[in-house]
Order: sequence, then structure tokens, then C-alpha cells
Amino acid sequence: MAFLVPILVCVVCMLFSYYLWKKSCPDTDNEPPMVPGGLPLLGHVLKFMGDSIHLWRVLNDFASNSYANGGVVAASVGPRTIYMVTDPDDIFTITNTSLDKDDIYDLGRPWIGDGLLTARASTWKIKRKLLNPAFSQTVMDGFMGVFNKQARKLVKDLEPEVGKGPFDHWTYTKHNALETICLTAMGVDFTDHTILNSQYVTAVDEILKIIAVRFRKFWLHSDYTFRWSNVKKKQDACLKILHNMSDTVIKRRKTEFDNNNILPERTTIPGKKFKAFMDLLFELSVEKGVMNDRELREHVDTMIVGGYDTTATVLMYTLLLLGSHPEVQEKVYQELKVVLGDSDRDVEKHDLSQLVYLEAVLKESLRLYPIGPVLGRRLDKNVQLKNYTLAAGRSCFLLLFGIHKHPMWGADVDQFNPDRWMDPASLPDNPNAFAAFSLGRRICIGKTYAYMSLKTTLAHVLRKYRFKGDHTQLELKFVVLLKPTSGYYVSIEERL
Ligand code: HEM
Repeated sequence: MAFLVPILVCVVCMLFSYYLWKKSCPDTDNEPPMVPGGLPLLGHVLKFMGDSIHLWRVLNDFASNSYANGGVVAASVGPRTIYMVTDPDDIFTITNTSLDKDDIYDLGRPWIGDGLLTARASTWKIKRKLLNPAFSQTVMDGFMGVFNKQARKLVKDLEPEVGKGPFDHWTYTKHNALETICLTAMGVDFTDHTILNSQYVTAVDEILKIIAVRFRKFWLHSDYTFRWSNVKKKQDACLKILHNMSDTVIKRRKTEFDNNNILPERTTIPGKKFKAFMDLLFELSVEKGVMNDRELREHVDTMIVGGYDTTATVLMYTLLLLGSHPEVQEKVYQELKVVLGDSDRDVEKHDLSQLVYLEAVLKESLRLYPIGPVLGRRLDKNVQLKNYTLAAGRSCFLLLFGIHKHPMWGADVDQFNPDRWMDPASLPDNPNAFAAFSLGRRICIGKTYAYMSLKTTLAHVLRKYRFKGDHTQLELKFVVLLKPTSGYYVSIEERL
């Protein structure tokens, strides 16, 4: 019987911790309903167990449940209650009242520290104000030379695939997008095949995978257990390369600055000059003394995290959708002919506002495949929503994909129909119905960058090639971002 004593002590301790946790975040008077299927003490923890394909299905079930329950549901993971929200207005309220990110974002901290994406609410406002000018329209316009150069490079890179049947276009879009973001964020040209550059490309991919693995294996969330894992060793190796790159570039800029007291603009194609984010921020830090080297590095690394996988994946989905809908692709092509004529000229900034159908295609692609489908916020106070009150201290997951699949989009909610964006009357009567870049105060800072680079790239690629594909074969998984597991093959033919 003596062996039962330690077990009993353990159980009592667990129950006591459970009780303390519950007490630390008490329910409000008007809690949203729990999704069905919870077990005593464990709650819904078993539902979350499984691979990332399973996790995506579970999240979709939660979204359906939320529609049927006034836009919000709760689930429990042991003693913790977490909320899941699909109502667009409630999501808007939460994004404006609760600026702190959920602890899960800490997984990105080893790389990007306290950059904008992960910044705590207490410092976020100052940082955002500081960085906003680096995303001004004038700075973005300066990137048009880079976007055109990179788009032409993608057209050239795709050439060997013409007429060869299905191929994986992701490998092309991801390399191209990483080169573009590194050029605009750091002023480093990754088409120069130096050892540091090629190591960097591999390390970026590797660390994004590590974050996804850690996210899925909840026992690796704690820094204590993570410290002893093999994944940590891999992460350290990646971080060494990633931080070394940013530090090297910062050092280079310092020398350039010390020699001339100003950083020169960079050139990609003759006559087109631009200032990289790194240079803009470096000048700010010298002028106003507002950031040290570590902070500078964190901001630049955050641009790369925010801008690389997102634009690359959106481009991949969009080409696949266009390949699956030849009539839409033809309409885009006709618009390109009207705006750009028959010449092979560069896309200019004033062309972009005229490519309205192309923009509709991008929005529809982001609606069906929102790359950041779920955001996490930590509630620092009770939050009053339309139907419920959420309790302070809890985690709240904003199911952005749930807004995009909401019944308010009508019977064709699951169809790819860019035409809906051409007539405001055919869109839901709600300003928060489209949330691919998030909503509220922490909305994506790179939205204009994303549209400008994606439109320029698509314009070049689509006037040269005709795509064929089948997006219905896609199987999706949730790995922090929304990614396909397979079936994203396309084939291309040259337009004559
Ligand atoms: C189609 C492409 C993109 C999509 C769909 C997208 C989506 C998003 C979303 C959903 C968020 C909110 C994240 C959260 O609250 O957890 C976000 C934030 C952010 N994005 Fe983007 N993004 C895109 C492109 C970019 C680009 C190109 C950059 C930079 C060059 C960028 C930089 C950022 C940053 C720094 C934040 C944090 C903003 C803040 O907290 O103030 N994103 N993005």
C-alpha cells in the first residue's frame, strides 16, 4: 500500500494546481458555450492530438460550431479555457482591445526577439509608430524596380518547365520571394551565390519548420523541456547563421555610414533606386538614437519572417487557382493587355491601381486560402462581445478563416469567384468580412508591400505563360500558417 502514497500525493497536487489555475481566471457571468466532446479534467486536449492535417480539420469543426453559437465557442485544455471566435465584429473588437499576443508567439522569439510581430503590448505602440514610415507609399514605390527585376527573374527561372507537364511551382515561388524580401529588407542580393547567402536560405526554411514542429508538439512549448531536445540544437545552429547574416550586414552599413555620413540608395536596375528597410532603420537609429543593434536586427528579421513565406505561399495558391479556372485566367490576361499593352515593359506604380481584376483574384485567393488563418491574443481584461463576455487572463484564438467561410458570403462561399469583388453589392454587408491581413490596430504592416509585389510578379508571369492546375486536389494542414500537404503541381505553356 505504501507505493500508493506518492501517487496519491501527485494526484492531490495536480487537483490543487487545477483548482488554483481555475481560480486565477474566473468565468464571467456570460461565458460562450463549450464545444461538445470535452472530458472531465482533460477537457478537449485529445481533440488537439494528431498531425497538422487533423488539426486543420478540428479547427474547421470549431468554426462550424461557433457559427451555430453566436460566433464564439470555448474549449478547455486541462484547467485552461480558450476561446475561439469567428464573428467578424467580435474579432474586430478583440483585435482593438487586446493587443497582447498569446504566449504561443514566444516560439518565434529566439529568432525575431521583440520585433513587431511578437512585441508585447507595452512596447508595440512605440515600435509601430517608429516603423510605419518605413512602409510609407513613397518607400514602397521605390521597391518597384526590385519587384520588376525579381518578377522577370521568375519568368526566366520557369522557362525550362514550359511544355514539360506538371511540376512543383512552390520551389520557384519560395526562392523568388525570399530573394525579394532579403533585397528590400537588407539590401542583400541573394542572386550572388555566396556561401553565407546559401546557408542563410537553408536556415530560414529550417527555422520555420522548427517553429512549426515545436508548435505541434506541445511538450516542446516549455523552454525547459525544449532545452534538452534535438530540435533545440538544430535551432541554435540556424540562429547562428541567421543572426550572423543580419549582424554582418549591420556592420557593413556602419562602415559605409562612417565613411560618408549617409547611406547611399541601392540600385537593382539602371535608373531605379531604393532604400532597404535596414538602411532606413539604421539612419533612424543614428539620427534619433532610438534603437540599438539588437533591436535593429530584430526589426529586419521580422520583415523577413512576415514577408517571405506569406507572399511566396499566396503566389503559389493564386497560380494554382488560376490554373484551375482558365476563364478567370483569360480575364486577367485581357486586363493586362489593356493596362500594359502588347509590350514587354516593366509594370509601373500607376499600372497597379488599374489592375483591378487582378486585385480581385488576389483577394479571392486570400479569402479561400488565408495564409495566417488563426491569430492568438491574450486577454488582459474582460472583453464584452455582442453575445458573450470573455474572461481576463485567458487565450483567445481568432479564426480568420472562419470569417472567410462565414455563411454571410452566400451559397457560393466555397467557390473561387473573383467577380464578387467587382461589385460591392455582391459582397457581405460588413467591413470586417475580409480579414486576411488581420483586423484592428495590429493589422499587417506589409499589406501594401504584399499587393504591390504580388501584382507585379503575377503581371509578368501571366502575360508570358498560361497555367494549368487543379486546386481541388489540395489537402491543407495547419502549421502556424495554412499550407498544402500535396497536390500543388501546375503545368505551363508559353503564350504566343
Ligand atoms: C499576402 C501576404 C501577407 C499576409 C496574408 C499577411 C498577413 C498578416 C497577418 C494576418 C498579420 C497579423 C498577425 C498576428 O496578429 O498575429 C500580419 C502581421 C504582420 N505582418 Fe503581414 N502578411 C503578409 C505580408 C507581409 C509582408 C510582405 C510583410 C513585411 C514586409 C509583413 C509584415 C508583418 C508584420 C511586421 C506584422 C506584425 C504587425 C504588428 O503587430 O504591428 N507581412 N500579417
